[in-house]
Amino acid sequence: ADHSYDYDVLVIGAGPGGYVAAIRAAQLGLKTACAESRETLGGTCLNVGCIPSKAMLHASEYFDAAANGAMAGMGIDVKPKLNLEAMHGQRTDAVDGLTKGIEFLFKKNKIDWKKGLATFKDAHSVEIGGETVTANNIIIATGSLVTPLPGVEVDNDKQVVVDSTGALELAKVPKKMVVIGGGVIGLELGSVWNRLGADVTVVEFLDQLLPGMDGDVRKEAGKIFKKQGMELKLKTKVTGVTVKGKKATLTLEPAAGGDAETLEADCVLVSIGRRPNTEGLGLENIDLETNKRGQIETDHDFRTSVDGVWAIGDVVPGPMLAHKAEDEGIACAENIAGQTGIVNHDVIPGVVYTLPEFAGVGLTQEEAIEKLGDKAKIKVGKFPMMANSRAKTNHEPDGFVKIIADAETDRVLGVWAIASVAGTMIAQAAQAMEFGATSEDIAYTCHAHPTHSEAIKEAAMAVTGKPIHI
Ligand code: FAD
Ligand code: NAI
Repeated sequence: ADHSYDYDVLVIGAGPGGYVAAIRAAQLGLKTACAESRETLGGTCLNVGCIPSKAMLHASEYFDAAANGAMAGMGIDVKPKLNLEAMHGQRTDAVDGLTKGIEFLFKKNKIDWKKGLATFKDAHSVEIGGETVTANNIIIATGSLVTPLPGVEVDNDKQVVVDSTGALELAKVPKKMVVIGGGVIGLELGSVWNRLGADVTVVEFLDQLLPGMDGDVRKEAGKIFKKQGMELKLKTKVTGVTVKGKKATLTLEPAAGGDAETLEADCVLVSIGRRPNTEGLGLENIDLETNKRGQIETDHDFRTSVDGVWAIGDVVPGPMLAHKAEDEGIACAENIAGQTGIVNHDVIPGVVYTLPEFAGVGLTQEEAIEKLGDKAKIKVGKFPMMANSRAKTNHEPDGFVKIIADAETDRVLGVWAIASVAGTMIAQAAQAMEFGATSEDIAYTCHAHPTHSEAIKEAAMAVTGKPIHI
């Protein structure tokens, strides 16, 4: 250790990137501190992101199953009554338990939590709440913030025009909810309120939902959400929202231009993306510039252009996902300790936690064709969940698994799944790809019966041959 600094490592931000980096650094014997300006540890993910959204998704699935006949279909006659306050209570309990868990892990690993907003003074010193803290290495893990929509003012306290944080906490089920942006947040939180009884319209600029996912998956998503009662306005942009009392009026226009129309709503969710957060960080004091998208660029080891300063998570390029941030946190800490920390950015799964779930890893069919330069250079195997015995038995017929492989080498390039448990299923695909698997490797791996995962095996069988059950 270099004794001229207070710490070997100071991490700025205690989200999944930062807190994981701090723990790994401490495990490797480095004297570590972590600055966090929030009242609790865990960042966006634990406080207002992954965890509370899943708490509401899970609870609302139960309500929906009871209210809309799924339970009756299995011989359980119930008439549910929504206790929204209690539903929010179990959400905040989940958040409290997990954020306190990180506090415990910090104590266990002797990591000092520096409470307050950290601002760089120079490359080895930071000011936090009037205190100067110095470190040999500083990791920027400041995450991301909601992208604002010009002309639309979010006020989470009023609960009329909200962002994802406000949409998690609505005290009443809105009668009419309009979601601006048919991406991950819009569909997850739109699903929650749709299931609890709101009349939900999703306005999406592009011609399909879920940009970034495989084309077949996006098309199917549109059908599934429509079937669940959501109204979709694709190829449409919102040009303004005005609020009078508790009512909002939205002005919409076709994305390509044309006649405007208006929509009334009790609640508007703005979910058009997130942007990297470097506010108040004082990057100018260390001459560290962000790129055009506001991100901090790093090399393969997560070093920035400033010696001793590293960056990970949502604030650097790549998908804005908690597990990507965590893996970068581990690799970055290992690199600081002189080990070889690597993240394979080609194999990062993405999951939308609606019901069914939408999941994928690797290339989309469109990307694979573009990369290999010819449609004939890939092979695709598909298997519908309708033909999977477990999904069928569980009354979960929606979805499919799709495997894209290199036609010449049979190496798996991408796996896409729509299924009730697609998020769990996709882990095996990520592992197979990490090990360089061919579709044949997956097809000849014994899968337990009856499981949803058998659909992955059958899709792999469909790549070069024939599945059994269709
Ligand atoms: P963050 O989690 O944003 O943490 C950064 C922390 O740094 C914050 O706590 C902030 O207060 C602190 N900070 C910032 N600047 C300073 C400073 N100068 N000084 C001190 N502290 C500072 N991802 C998934 O993988 N799965 C999901 O299911 C999922 N669901 C989501 C649902 C919602 C509603 C949202 C909004 C996001 C969701 N995400 C999900 C994305 C996920 O939350 C982020 O990818 C992840 O939190 C990024 O981690 P991070 O450590 O880079 O940053
Ligand atoms: P997103 O990028 O997923 O989706 C935004 C959508 O809004 C896009 O489809 C875009 O075309 C559309 N859009 C943009 N401007 C528009 C406009 N003016 N009018 C209509 N539509 C417009 O962003 P989202 O949903 O806000 O989520 C932000 C990020 O948070 C995600 O990209 C993801 O990284 C993370 N997240 C991850 C989750 C998960 O892993 N399950 C869950 C929630 C968030």
